[in-house]
Amino acid sequence: MTTNAELLERHRSVLPSWLALYHDPPISFDRGQGRHIYDVEGNRYLDFFGGILTTSLGYDIPEITKAVQEQAPKTFHTSTLYLSECMIELAELIADLSGIPDAKVFFTTSGTEANDAALMLTTVARKSNQILAMRNSYHGRSFTTIAITGHGSWSPTSISGMSVNYVHGGYRLRSPFRDLDDESYTNACVEDLRQVFDMMTSGDVAAMIAEPIQGVGGFATPPDGFFGAIKKELDNRGVLFISDEVQTGWGRTGENFWGYQAHGITPDVMTFAKGVANGLSLGGLVASAELMDSLPGNSISTFGGNPVSSVGALATIRYMLEHDIQGRSLRMGNRLADHLRPVVDASEVVVELRGKGLMLALETVQVGTIEPNPAAAIQIMEEARAAGLLIGKGGLYGNVLRIAPPMTVTEEEIDEAGTTLVNIIERLG
Ligand SMILES: Cc1ncc(COP(=O)(O)O)c(C=O)c1O
Repeated sequence: MTTNAELLERHRSVLPSWLALYHDPPISFDRGQGRHIYDVEGNRYLDFFGGILTTSLGYDIPEITKAVQEQAPKTFHTSTLYLSECMIELAELIADLSGIPDAKVFFTTSGTEANDAALMLTTVARKSNQILAMRNSYHGRSFTTIAITGHGSWSPTSISGMSVNYVHGGYRLRSPFRDLDDESYTNACVEDLRQVFDMMTSGDVAAMIAEPIQGVGGFATPPDGFFGAIKKELDNRGVLFISDEVQTGWGRTGENFWGYQAHGITPDVMTFAKGVANGLSLGGLVASAELMDSLPGNSISTFGGNPVSSVGALATIRYMLEHDIQGRSLRMGNRLADHLRPVVDASEVVVELRGKGLMLALETVQVGTIEPNPAAAIQIMEEARAAGLLIGKGGLYGNVLRIAPPMTVTEEEIDEAGTTLVNIIERLG
């Protein structure tokens, strides 16, 4: 039997040292079933992170497996040089769901590439290299998307061909505006945005990109309506708004199908990836036909919208719609929050429970302060793992726990995970 330890040694010798690994010691998974996943040594875990919110419906979902099995013997690949019925059907479905009028869809293989394409589209359309991004954001690992990622710990370089200004967003706990109520907080951020326009740009900004709830940033959640107020300022100046729905899409936030819908707006561009195909490699962006078609020059995407990922995405999205996965996210997310709220209120180490639906986070601090406490986050994560529960980590200082199970999660599984976490936090104090 291959062991986790053997794989770690081989991994370290041949893969980059900067490829982050969870857990000490790290784990290698062999197979999954429902919301459970088994490592190569046969240990079973309840998975409340779903491979970074990507296994959106769980493991071995018969409808998705069947769709992939039927496609696999036909062809894995044709490229965007040829017509593909499953890609067209998927584009029709996503265009319809997007809420963007007269929408067109371009498929990529990842969220990074989707955001890169959104930057290309908006900067070319507006003939400007000026972009606004949010502090504490994460939009991908490539050269362009690192330039719009407001997160020192994920940024290997500041070199960029874009001129980027970072504005205040949804991370309230460490904001200078943290003591304000929702409305005043939003107004303060809008006022700051006006100053950025007037003081730090030459006016002709191409676009703002934002995550409705910041994923890697630790599920930082702005007040509802926040982006509505921000977008008024953008609209006054003709600046396009890109909603990065890579983590918040497909009903994950419970109240809405897309994160942007909590803000009473329609974005000009929307990007998606992760959960769209329950783990198959697919991303993309949606924009109005007028904007999408405005890009001059030919383009291709060799792997974007490939047949295997497309049929998997079609099966995933249809399952989501047929089983009211959004409604389930709301109910199960509320149930988990009900478990956690009393212990968080009593805790001196876990200072905040935040997020929406099945996108919940716990932030850990040093007692009596808001100084980050990454050691406590690691302790909670490792004790959960020892109890057979996997959760994620994030936040600027690595002191936020991210909880985001596959959206098919059951009441029993929520109660099991809730009890495990409550016991750990109670012991921690
Ligand atoms: C909000 C957001 N956008 C973009 C990305 C990049 O996606 P990918 O890792 O598929 O390139 C991520 C990845 O975590 C993300 O969370």
